[in-house]
Amino acid sequence: MQFSTKTSAPEKTRTACAIVAVHKGKPLAAGQALDGLLGGSLGAALKRKDLGTKPGATLLLPGAAGVERVLLVSAGDAAALSPKAWSDLCRSALRALQGTGARQSTSWLAELEVKGIDAAGKAAALVAVARELAYRFDHHKSKPDPAPTGPESIEIGCDRSEAQAIARALQTAQAIADGADFTRDLGNTPANICTPTYLAQAARKMGKQFGLKVDVLERKQMEALKMGSLLSVAQGSEEPPKLIVVHYNGAGKEAPIVLVGKGITFDTGGISLKPAPDMDEMKFDMSGAASVLGTLRAIAAVKPKVNVIGIVPTCENMPSGKATRPGDVVTSMSGQTIEILNTDAEGRLILCDALTYAERFKPAAVVDIATLTGACVVALGHHHSGLFSTDDALADELIARGREAQDTCWRMPVEDAYQDGLKSNFADMANVGGRAGGAITAACFLARFTKAYPWAHLDIAGTSHRSGAAKGSTGRPVPLLTAFVLGRAK
Ligand code: BES
Ligand code: MN
Ligand code: ZN
Repeated sequence: MQFSTKTSAPEKTRTACAIVAVHKGKPLAAGQALDGLLGGSLGAALKRKDLGTKPGATLLLPGAAGVERVLLVSAGDAAALSPKAWSDLCRSALRALQGTGARQSTSWLAELEVKGIDAAGKAAALVAVARELAYRFDHHKSKPDPAPTGPESIEIGCDRSEAQAIARALQTAQAIADGADFTRDLGNTPANICTPTYLAQAARKMGKQFGLKVDVLERKQMEALKMGSLLSVAQGSEEPPKLIVVHYNGAGKEAPIVLVGKGITFDTGGISLKPAPDMDEMKFDMSGAASVLGTLRAIAAVKPKVNVIGIVPTCENMPSGKATRPGDVVTSMSGQTIEILNTDAEGRLILCDALTYAERFKPAAVVDIATLTGACVVALGHHHSGLFSTDDALADELIARGREAQDTCWRMPVEDAYQDGLKSNFADMANVGGRAGGAITAACFLARFTKAYPWAHLDIAGTSHRSGAAKGSTGRPVPLLTAFVLGRAK
């Protein structure tokens, strides 16, 4: 899909479909200009009340001269739209376009005012929505789904003074969408194909394509590093574990941002086996890993002056004669011992060793991303990712970048009071606390391995994928992570 800017007057812009906003029942400037071209039929349609008044209602009119069609979109009555209302409006408009024969269109919607975002921000949000609507995953259907009929190119109508900033925003937004699509493809790929070996191959291929250095550590190397916790999760599976390390170097010797993603390619729960319903969704348990790789892809395309390292511990969590038993005690790379009371709390067990490994890069900040707990889904639902941090400045930064990227997170506590739940009679700690506050005790567990650097943890169990009829990966939090990294670039 192509996006570009357009600075000519609406009535002089040849297009397969001009998209114009109607605010409080009246067309804005672009609509008024086009009404002249249409001989007043636009105004007449509004007078007849052919356009619904609800925000997002649409009406397609036949065009005239070089403007083949005009799509009216109702923006309701609010003085300024919220960013979410803006995205919803764009979605309604693009959905309506999907039903037409127009393969190209020009949006004049940015005449609308949106709270807190400028023309570039509006354009970026439109790209995100358009790419979301265009996404398909039908690689494993013997006959592909009918081809999407949406527009192949979208022009963003704007003032000449804004065109440069918008063009830049379009490029970044496209890179983020490409990264998120990469993440979604990995998440949606079934676990019999998307194994740790497959993830490592995908990282290598992406690295080659974008000029990133990719190292893959094998079991032997992890043994040498004494990653006893990570390896205890992998030991029940026939699939060999991998530790993928991806380097983006854009700022010489500066301290890097390190992103650590949970890469459980399938989570059966292990010997603490999960119940059958919806267990298929545990193929999405590598979404943190996929979001790290997708973010590095986006960053490598934008090329900011910043250093980023992605670390992906990846394995399967399976029950078998070799699997970890509840009660087993393992020694993590940090030297701390862990009593594994529940083999289904495996994410923290692979992350803790990856977080210790991260110390060698002397990071400016470490953010781990994980589908870590069902408790986080109970707490926050599917809108916000859970944010946990012992560093207020880092937490505030992630919250702000998330808002900008419309990929939000909500802060939860990581406090010593919750550490008590992890007491063990037989090791330095247990891998689970009680049921209550499960997302918090999980974060508290990770906090014990992250004392050497500023650290934040994103629990994306509720935001990485959808269930039900729309089942599939969302590509989150690639927009948030990319915005965070770009925000730190010089
Ligand atoms: N991968 C799951 C968490 C999860 C649940 C992700 C639902 C996405 C949707 C994780 O490994 C897990 O099993 N967590 C347990 C922890 C418990 C045993 C302390 C959970 O949430 O039940
Ligand atoms: Mn689990
Ligand atoms: Zn898991």
